[in-house]
Amino acid sequence: MADRPDILIVDDGPAWTRETTARLYHLTEQFIETAGRCLIALSGGSTPGRLYQSLTLPEWKRRFRWKHIWFVFGDERCVPPDHPESNYGLAQRLLFAPLGIDPQHISRMKGELEDPAAAARESEDALRRLTEAGLSAVPVVDLVLLGLGEDGHIASLFPGSAALCDSRHAVEVTQSPTGVATRLTLSLDVINHAAVILFLVTGPNKAAAVRAVLEPQSEAERCLPAALVRPTNGQVQWLLDRSAAQHLARTPEDAERRP
Ligand code: 6PG
Repeated sequence: MADRPDILIVDDGPAWTRETTARLYHLTEQFIETAGRCLIALSGGSTPGRLYQSLTLPEWKRRFRWKHIWFVFGDERCVPPDHPESNYGLAQRLLFAPLGIDPQHISRMKGELEDPAAAARESEDALRRLTEAGLSAVPVVDLVLLGLGEDGHIASLFPGSAALCDSRHAVEVTQSPTGVATRLTLSLDVINHAAVILFLVTGPNKAAAVRAVLEPQSEAERCLPAALVRPTNGQVQWLLDRSAAQHLARTPEDAERRP
């Protein structure tokens, strides 16, 4: 990556969850202070899921100004919302229900629709309404949460996907090589137009992908979906635990010691 993104490396376990929750709190407060609301694109996955559970702890539940926070999804599997694989279902169980989030503040991708392309169009229309983006503009989400796949995928943008080069739509239909095949996902363009992109990555099984994306050693690594996250005007922040960061040759501590 040309200019080194903001990388925070935290001890594994509760320390990572605490630090990530605190950073999310301060980011939502910044958006609410300046714009009166914060629009977050939620990610699926177990790592984001850990964060969602933390948000419902009493100390955070009462601190976040939920009435000023709106939710869209970074991606969705083409399954019904109550399906175990649904990203909306994950957020509903871990976040929306425990916090009593107003359903009017949630815009989900309707993965259950027979026609995924129609679902993508409907999600795009909703996103444009929420961001007041005209047809020729790229919708701007305040805060996009991203997990990282071991193959370097983000949202449901997988390595080699034609969607990575397609900026005609804000929401794309893609195919996953594993799990639920047909997916809906924000386009790379929408992700890159976000004000803040937060990577939530933990565990030793992500260390290789983290190194490949942050310290690429080949053209193939430079073309991984996560490596193509280059904010147009915003910023990208990596929230890593030590296990996920273990293969990085250069860490923020090194930079502090060796400017
Ligand atoms: C999904 C997510 C996907 C996920 C990564 C990381 O729908 O599954 O959008 O991009 O965030 O695969 O998932 P884990 O944190 O569970 O490894």
